[in-house]
Amino acid sequence: MKYLVIDACARLNSRTRKLCQGYLNTLKGEIKIVKLYDLNIKPLTEKDLKYRDNLINKNDYSDPIFDLAKEFASYDEIIIASPYWDLSFPSILKVYFENISISGLTFKYDKDSVKGLAKAKKIIYISTSGGKIYGANLGFEYVKAIGNFFGIKETINFTVEELDIDPSKEKEILDLSIKKISELNE
Ligand SMILES: Cc1cc2nc3c(=O)[nH]c(=O)nc-3n(C[C@H](O)[C@H](O)[C@H](O)COP(=O)(O)O)c2cc1C
Repeated sequence: MKYLVIDACARLNSRTRKLCQGYLNTLKGEIKIVKLYDLNIKPLTEKDLKYRDNLINKNDYSDPIFDLAKEFASYDEIIIASPYWDLSFPSILKVYFENISISGLTFKYDKDSVKGLAKAKKIIYISTSGGKIYGANLGFEYVKAIGNFFGIKETINFTVEELDIDPSKEKEILDLSIKKISELNE
């Protein structure tokens, strides 16, 4: 199995990353970690779109701007580690999705429908939040929807809430959650 980890954690001591590591420790196979804050990815401009569309129209995917999409589409399982920010996730994760959402690589138009082209069967969405999440977890819901768009049928939510409510409980909550996530594949 080949696992691709998308790390959207901004902080050095990120609890989300620690939780994710608890999951990674249980895996056997090849693991590639992509730290989004170390990539030079930016929101798409009009110039970027023109450049990209021109290549897509020529069916030429040799440019390095397509490497992230090719990588995403080729892995067996996708693991996303992303804190809960402002009711969803850090904008760098959206920028990443903008950069990998490429017609001909992660999805294609098929007569009158859209077909996902990613190989993965599953996304594990790992997140932590400071407070309680009231209503829908929009970060998870978005990832589930775009994963489905790329052809990935299942997205599992592992979000740990209330890490900032009572500092005296933080370690206990995190340790218990790391134990739980390490049992996910048992
Ligand atoms: C920019 C920012 C936005 C946040 N927005 C929310 C929020 O909407 N709801 C919430 O419960 N916690 C929010 N938090 C708290 C984080 O979700 C929480 O501290 C989380 O555990 C951070 O993960 P980390 O330790 O991996 O960095 C926010 C934190 C930051 C820095």
